[in-house]
Amino acid sequence: SQNLPCSFVIFGATGDLAAHKLLPALFDLEHAGRLADNLSIIAFSRREWTTDDWLEYVRSILKNKLDQPSCQALLERFLARFRYLRGDLKDVDSYHALAADIAPGSACSRTVFYLAIRPADFVTAIKNLKVAGLNEPRGMNRVVIEKPFGEDLESAQVLNRVLHQYFDEEQIYRIDHFLGKETVQNLLVFRFANTIIEPLWNRNFIDHVQITVAESIGIEKRAGYYDRAGALRDMLQNHLMQLLTVVAMEPPPALEADALRDEKVKVLRSIRPIAKRAVHAHAVRAQYTHGNIDRQPVVSYQQEENVEPDSITETFAAAKFYIDNWRWRGVPFYLRTGKRMPRRHSMIAIRFKHPPQQLFRETPLESIDPNWVLLSIQPEESMHMEIHVKQPGLDMNTRVIQMNASFLRTDEQTLGAYETLLLDVIEGDRSLFIRFDEAEWAWRVIDPILKFWTVEREYIPTYPAGSWGPAEANRLFDSDDQVWRNEL
Ligand code: BG6
Repeated sequence: SQNLPCSFVIFGATGDLAAHKLLPALFDLEHAGRLADNLSIIAFSRREWTTDDWLEYVRSILKNKLDQPSCQALLERFLARFRYLRGDLKDVDSYHALAADIAPGSACSRTVFYLAIRPADFVTAIKNLKVAGLNEPRGMNRVVIEKPFGEDLESAQVLNRVLHQYFDEEQIYRIDHFLGKETVQNLLVFRFANTIIEPLWNRNFIDHVQITVAESIGIEKRAGYYDRAGALRDMLQNHLMQLLTVVAMEPPPALEADALRDEKVKVLRSIRPIAKRAVHAHAVRAQYTHGNIDRQPVVSYQQEENVEPDSITETFAAAKFYIDNWRWRGVPFYLRTGKRMPRRHSMIAIRFKHPPQQLFRETPLESIDPNWVLLSIQPEESMHMEIHVKQPGLDMNTRVIQMNASFLRTDEQTLGAYETLLLDVIEGDRSLFIRFDEAEWAWRVIDPILKFWTVEREYIPTYPAGSWGPAEANRLFDSDDQVWRNEL
């Protein structure tokens, strides 16, 4: 189409994100035949490299993707797209050089600028792009911003202001890679393509919602970033809040970027603000001590490389939110996420209310398992519905069975999140990216917790690595029959 970019610039090309996510995803897009013939990719970084050095580097990164002989030809085709440009993010001349390099006299100068750089450098890069005239043409050039988008409400607002000074909102792609995950998009289909689901999806039938993103990894080599950020900023403000909006939003009038994001913003705006004195009842943080993951011993957070030995940064965060609108008023949404939990598992668990009458047992209603719908996001992508059936035998007893369905057939694989999102950037579809107001509203929800935790520096509860989090997380529940759902 007319609007496809011809150049794709990766700032921070020699960094971790490019190596782990961007280059493999771009290569997969090449494999899928989704990169236009005239798309060239410019790797921008400070290292004293030549294009040949760079190509060697890309080869080494993609080594394990080249398992078939046919991949060699594909790799050559992919490598032919690259140029390496040595430059300094802080130096305006580098941007002028970039501008000269992008389209010397060619008909097409439409460009994507991917800022895979430290957040501290965002503002500098954005301003320098403008100085070199690279924010123009407005309708054409795009800029992609990685998370974290700010570190609190105020800094996110500042970042938005700077961006809007030089770029139109239509040019800005704020990434939350969870939105690129197939199952997250599947949530929209699950809710809005099935008439049997949507009528039940409200306060009349749902008791509460749980959103869990558990990871078994620790903080790996990221202490420099993580020890300042913590789980609330790293995961809850963005990934879990995004899941919440997709679970709770109203059907949009159309599947268009702004229609969709309008609905998500409405959810965020409806979340009841947490008063300072209520933070304790609404949010729990904790940090892992040493323990075992997959029977292997692992060290405590404070002993991780480059973590301050007396750090009280949280590696686990849980919070309770109420969405004060017609659909959800009174239904608690419990969110939790943590590092060094027993295994990698993300799940949305919907607990339904009890039926109004108990016909089949002598036991009181409350002691009977109500219906659950469990949507597993990763690693398996599946749906599980728990319903009561009659237990075989002379007595009229019930038991719970699970109806399980994988979202994928056995011969299928989902696209990687970055593959999906990079293609969207290239094709100009902003539906799965965060709009400026969405980012700010999500921070506004989180800010009271953040502020409270910043002041309370004395003590943090702990949980052993390999456990499902601290006992304190149970205090969030509104009633005695609510419990965290750890397993499918
Ligand atoms: C990132 C966080 O945004 O998401 C990491 O910074 C986290 O701390 C990662 O590990 C999880 O993403 P995924 O796709 O592996 O579930």
